[in-house]
Amino acid sequence: MTTINPHQFFDLSREDPDSLTHFRSVLNDGQLFRYVEGDRESANTLIERHLAAYLHQEAAVAVANGTVGLRLALRAIGVEPGDRVLVSAYSFIACAMAIAAVGAVPVPLDMDTALTVDTAALESPGGPVAAVMIVHVQGHAVPVGRIRALCDQLGVPLIEDACQGLGARSSDGLAGQLADVAVTSFQQSKQIASGEGGLVAGSAEVVERVYRMADLGAVRHGGGLPDWDDERAIVGDNLRMTEMQAALVMDQADALEDTLARQRRHRVHLREAIGSDVPVLDSDMPEGDAGSHILFEALSESDAKDFCAALASRNVLARTVWKKTYLDYGLFRRNEPSGLFSDARPKKAIALAPRILSVPTSKYLTDSAVAAMAEAIVLNRHHLASER
Ligand SMILES: Cc1ncc(COP(=O)(O)O)c(C=O)c1O
Repeated sequence: MTTINPHQFFDLSREDPDSLTHFRSVLNDGQLFRYVEGDRESANTLIERHLAAYLHQEAAVAVANGTVGLRLALRAIGVEPGDRVLVSAYSFIACAMAIAAVGAVPVPLDMDTALTVDTAALESPGGPVAAVMIVHVQGHAVPVGRIRALCDQLGVPLIEDACQGLGARSSDGLAGQLADVAVTSFQQSKQIASGEGGLVAGSAEVVERVYRMADLGAVRHGGGLPDWDDERAIVGDNLRMTEMQAALVMDQADALEDTLARQRRHRVHLREAIGSDVPVLDSDMPEGDAGSHILFEALSESDAKDFCAALASRNVLARTVWKKTYLDYGLFRRNEPSGLFSDARPKKAIALAPRILSVPTSKYLTDSAVAAMAEAIVLNRHHLASER
C-alpha cells in the first residue's frame, strides 16, 4: 500500500526525460564536475545566475547543502566565535547548529503567531547581536519587512533561511528577497530537489567569500585551475555541488512557476474540500504560499500524534513539522551557556512546536488523492484547535 502523499517534491521516475534538458546535456557530455571543459556552460553557473535574479539578489553560489550554506553565510558576514545570533526558535535544528558550528551563540526569537516572528528580542536585544536568522516554514513566507527595518536600526545583517520557502511570497515580498544573505536547500523534501544541494545568495562580495570557502579556498582566474599562491587564497573546504545535481536544479528552476501553480492548485482544492470549518494555519498572504504544505494546529501534543496516526491509517501523510525548538534538544541543553536561555525561553514556540502539523501537497497529487486526504482530515478535525 503506498502512501497517498509521499514527502517527495521531485521524483525522477515520474518526470518526462525529454523535459529535463539540462540533465540530458550533462548526460550527453558526461562531465560531472562544476568546472566544465568545452562549450557547455556549467549547470552550477546557470543556477547561480538564475536563482540570484529570482531572489532579487546580486549573486549566488551553489554549495553542497543548505546546512553548510547557512554556516558559510554566517562566516561570510563576519560572525565570529562568541557572537550572539538571534534565530527563529521555531526552526530546523540546522539553523542553530550552523550558528553553533561557527562558535557563535544562538539566541532564540519567539513566534508571534504560528507563522510570524516575535520581534521583541529585536526591539530590545539585551546585548550585542552579530546577525539575525529567520526561517520560512514549509512553503509559508514570514513577512520580513518589520524584521528588516529592525535589523537596519541595529545595523546587523539578516539571513533568511528559505530552505523550505523557495517561491513563497508574503505581503513583504518573496522569501529571501529582503535578506542580506538568503540560503536555500535542494534536499529531497524541498520545492526544488536534487537529493542534496544548496545555494547562498547575497551581495557579490559575500557570495565571493562563500564561493572561496566552499572551493578549498582557491582563487580561480576565469573559472580555470585553482590558484593557492594568490594572496586572496584562504583555508577552505570542498563544499561544491556536482553538475548532475545542478542540472536537475536548473531544470526544476525553469519549471518552478508551473510547480508552484500545481502545488497551489492542490492546496486550494484541499482547502475547499475540507471546508471552512476545519481550521488551517495560514501565513499573512495565503495565496502567496508556495503551496507545498497545508498546516494545522493540533489541540495538544497527544492530539497531534493521534491526528498523524489516524491519517497514516488512511495512507495520508501528516507530520509534526519540528517536534520541539532547538533549545530543547539534549544537544543544546547540555551545551547551554549557563542562564543564557532561561530569561529568553521562547514560550510560544515551545508550546506550539509539538502541535504544528503539516500535510504535504506536492505537484504529483491527483484529484482523487486530494479528495481522500480531505476526507481523512475532516474525519479527524476534532484533534485540531479551532481558535488561535
Ligand atoms: C528550514 C531548513 N533549514 C535548513 C535546512 C538544511 O538544509 P540541508 O538539508 O540541505 O542541509 C533544512 C532542510 O533540510 C530546512 O528545512
